[in-house]
Amino acid sequence: MCGIVGYAGEKSSAPILIKGLKALEYRGYDSAGLATVEQDNIEIVKSVGKVAVLEEETLKHNLKGITGIAHTRWATHGKPTTLNSHPHSDCTGDIVVVHNGIIENYKTLKEDLLSRNHKFISDTDTEVIAHLLEEKLNNVNDNLEDNFLKAVVEVTSILEGSYALGVLWKKVPNTIIGTRVKSPLVCGVGENENFLGSDISAFIEFTNKAIYLNDEDFIVIKKDEIKIYDKLLHEKYFNVIELDINAENSGKNGYEHYMLKEINEQPFTVRSTIEEVLKDINHAFGITKEELKNIKNIMMIGCGTAYHATMVAKYWIEEFCNIPCQAEYASEYKYRQVAMPDETLAIFVSQSGETADTVAALEKARAAGFKTVSICNVFASTLARMSDYTFYTKCGSEISVASTKAFTAQLAALFSLAVLIADAVGNISSDKKDELLNELAKLPVAIEAAVAQDKNITKLAEKYYKQSTFVFLGRNVNYPIALEGALKLKEITYLQAEGFPAGEIKHGPIALLNAEMPVISIMPGDKLFDKMVNACEEVMARGAKSIAITDEKGFKLLEGRVEEAVILPNVEEYLFPFLSVIALQIFAYRIAKLNNREIDQPRNLAKSVTVE
Ligand code: AGP
Repeated sequence: MCGIVGYAGEKSSAPILIKGLKALEYRGYDSAGLATVEQDNIEIVKSVGKVAVLEEETLKHNLKGITGIAHTRWATHGKPTTLNSHPHSDCTGDIVVVHNGIIENYKTLKEDLLSRNHKFISDTDTEVIAHLLEEKLNNVNDNLEDNFLKAVVEVTSILEGSYALGVLWKKVPNTIIGTRVKSPLVCGVGENENFLGSDISAFIEFTNKAIYLNDEDFIVIKKDEIKIYDKLLHEKYFNVIELDINAENSGKNGYEHYMLKEINEQPFTVRSTIEEVLKDINHAFGITKEELKNIKNIMMIGCGTAYHATMVAKYWIEEFCNIPCQAEYASEYKYRQVAMPDETLAIFVSQSGETADTVAALEKARAAGFKTVSICNVFASTLARMSDYTFYTKCGSEISVASTKAFTAQLAALFSLAVLIADAVGNISSDKKDELLNELAKLPVAIEAAVAQDKNITKLAEKYYKQSTFVFLGRNVNYPIALEGALKLKEITYLQAEGFPAGEIKHGPIALLNAEMPVISIMPGDKLFDKMVNACEEVMARGAKSIAITDEKGFKLLEGRVEEAVILPNVEEYLFPFLSVIALQIFAYRIAKLNNREIDQPRNLAKSVTVE
């Protein structure tokens, strides 16, 4: 994980680097640091905690360097301490490195370097890179720039793992070298200033022109020149992409937290995503009906919340398309022997498009020759660029670490894709296709009503926020929502929360229940309503508190058989996840707030998980 930023220009680099770090803080926020170079002086400032702490610290140093690199960290190797924060230097302090990723062979490299008398001050894997560069550059006094580049190429050739790097060398003061393998890196192209970033948000405020780097590209950045080389040091042609986004309004718009703002944006983000699809559903996903016609098997892959979206879609696909469909965690898919039947469509879902596990799973699916479609929220992200086809959800930036609006937009995209496939394979009539899409198009109004339940849900949260364990139950499409409700709650409240298929509790989880424990059942008035009521009875018989997330139909049928109920509008039963998940997002948010948690940046997490 971690975010890296670089700046080469004419202005003082520190404030620009800090801005970049703030935009990248979603990638990690346990410590941060920066280095600027001015003539032959490299100055480094580091601090533990958020970028705001580094900002204060930096102000004390009056840094003047017009070239610099910076880093915000999510610790992998070594605790979040000042010494472990990046940038890391060699023994001389002439070379500084920022790194996102993991150097898997760092232990062997470090032992070798120690045996050659290098002094290490951190516990990180990254520090070896600075010392390895030192060995290459120690006695170099001519052809400085060429030798700098050569040294980076040679050193990275012995690194194993994943990395995006930004490197400064005092002897070439106005130049940054960057490179990447399996971790994202983008260059921002400005007027008399150029940038480096883990993603475009690092520099989008300054320029919307970007160069996306590929693995084993080596970029040499100066204020007025950018060159890219391959590992044989051949200069490469590159494309500058003009991004269709200007600095987005990424403020909180009066909301106390990004999470609350993003929950409230869902009527609009779902609407925009649906409109994007319905403009021309046959071409919305890039893949043609002709290509979909012979699909015999579907794999869907994601992590965390995105995985839960694929789990919901599995129910839709099997129902509408009658095609075997699996939803799988990317981290599991990558490292097991999977069956690879012909005519498989592999669908990848990721808000960031940078999740390392999902990217690794995509590589595997590509190697198997599967057609790949990604559903991402971030333009030109790694996943998007690697897939055969990409559909972009229309969410705008999602800043809160806990994903909310990306999930419902992913559901909207997956539902539409399920309908498209069902049509392509001939499993539904064109009337049924229209009916399903019409129901989807009506959803934003119901979503508005779900968001408006905040007051009622807050009352519920006030009653239960002191509890230490919560159980969520659901069946069919609402089972993944039980998992998502539990994930959201544990992420931002640090309380124990477990989601189960309602029919499973009697097979073990019921042993967890005790008097007062809140058990939240997602139970619209659908064909499984009576089964859900059975689960509620079992729960209440153990003295636990039964809370229903239901619809108007279900509420009538309930006849007071639960302790509490949140009543959502009636929608077709396969669409209820769009509404129930919003109720659970609000529930998690309100419990976290009552417990004074750090809602947008919960402990130990990062928005984009770019390490496997
Ligand atoms: C959700 O609230 C999480 N923070 C996390 O589970 C996230 O969904 C997961 O890491 C996948 O991220 P992606 O969608 O960017 O791939």
